[in-house]
Amino acid sequence: MFDPDSLPYYDPLIETKIAVITGGNSGIGYYTTLHLYMHGFTVYICGRNSHKTNTAISDITKEAKRRLIANGGVLQNLGSLKYIHLDLTALKSVERAASKIAKMEKKIDVLINNAGIMAVPFEMTRDGFEIQMQTNYVSHFLFTMRLLPLLRECNGRIISLSSIGHHFEFSYWKMDQLWDYKPNMIFTWFRYAMTKTAVIQFTKMLAIKYPDVICVSLHPGLVMNTNLFSYWTRLPIIGIFFWLFFQVIGYFFGVSNEQGSLATLKCALSDDINIEKHNGKYFTTGGLETKSSYVAKNLDDAASTWIWTVHELKNRGFDV
Ligand SMILES: NC(=O)c1ccc[n+]([C@@H]2O[C@H](COP(=O)([O-])OP(=O)(O)OC[C@H]3O[C@@H](n4cnc5c(N)ncnc54)[C@H](OP(=O)(O)O)[C@@H]3O)[C@@H](O)[C@H]2O)c1
Repeated sequence: MFDPDSLPYYDPLIETKIAVITGGNSGIGYYTTLHLYMHGFTVYICGRNSHKTNTAISDITKEAKRRLIANGGVLQNLGSLKYIHLDLTALKSVERAASKIAKMEKKIDVLINNAGIMAVPFEMTRDGFEIQMQTNYVSHFLFTMRLLPLLRECNGRIISLSSIGHHFEFSYWKMDQLWDYKPNMIFTWFRYAMTKTAVIQFTKMLAIKYPDVICVSLHPGLVMNTNLFSYWTRLPIIGIFFWLFFQVIGYFFGVSNEQGSLATLKCALSDDINIEKHNGKYFTTGGLETKSSYVAKNLDDAASTWIWTVHELKNRGFDV
């Protein structure tokens, strides 16, 4: 692991740096936002709940000042934090959020597709996608494509959070495979794996199609104290066992929420990450480059996933 303070800082009075993050109010996204803010970025936090996001903005502001004072009160201009409403389960909301940002900014330096849900019960969204597929992948695809012109203005970076769980997709499954079978406890992981494989495939395709932007995907680490596991830990009675189970995993293999943000921060800020060497690559905990699954690496399958997504969005009135 490395110290995020060692990453480049941009004085907002001299240079404006813009970051957009989905789900920056909680878990890994919270610490990613905190550090970007401390590194001088204007951060657009895109979230579905205004109360939660505004509370996070106020907490992050306080925490950044507390850390500056604790570090000896070094004078350092902080960035700024702005809330944008975004519900990833509604494509219209995604489009609205992107156009609001596009009206306010001429360029985006970093886009972080961070928000996600994991292993929830089967549900279809009003747009007609399985809920994990839309939240984790399809809506981020649309969001990214809408913001791409702004990212291309400044050779920006696109960082998308995948997961080690993508390995559960052990052979390429057709994108309209819903896995709506029982028991949910097994098939929900197949649905999650498909979304996180699609995130890696999307990143690889973006890197090929738009080589002027740095596109990477990553697994942040096993970060057991975020809200990602709350569906399982809140189940009546057996929730306690799941909570204990997650705590044990966390004790032996886990990292803290803040350490979980390091891979994203390295990909977002480090001068060591560059287009020639890293475009389309997959990283893991702490920002180390690693290999994705055999399925996620296959470019023919990645192209099929891309074509499916473009068609599905077009069928719903969203041309990308
Ligand atoms: N934690 C891990 O061990 C782990 C491992 C591998 C990958 N990841 C990935 O890391 C990312 C961050 O997860 P986390 O662990 O930090 O979980 P988290 O604390 O639950 O954060 C998830 C964020 O996504 C937001 N979100 C969920 N559904 C949304 C929707 N429909 N519209 C807008 N925002 C939505 C949540 O907003 P609300 O607060 O409003 O719910 C929250 O801000 C996810 O993509 C996850 O798959 C995590």
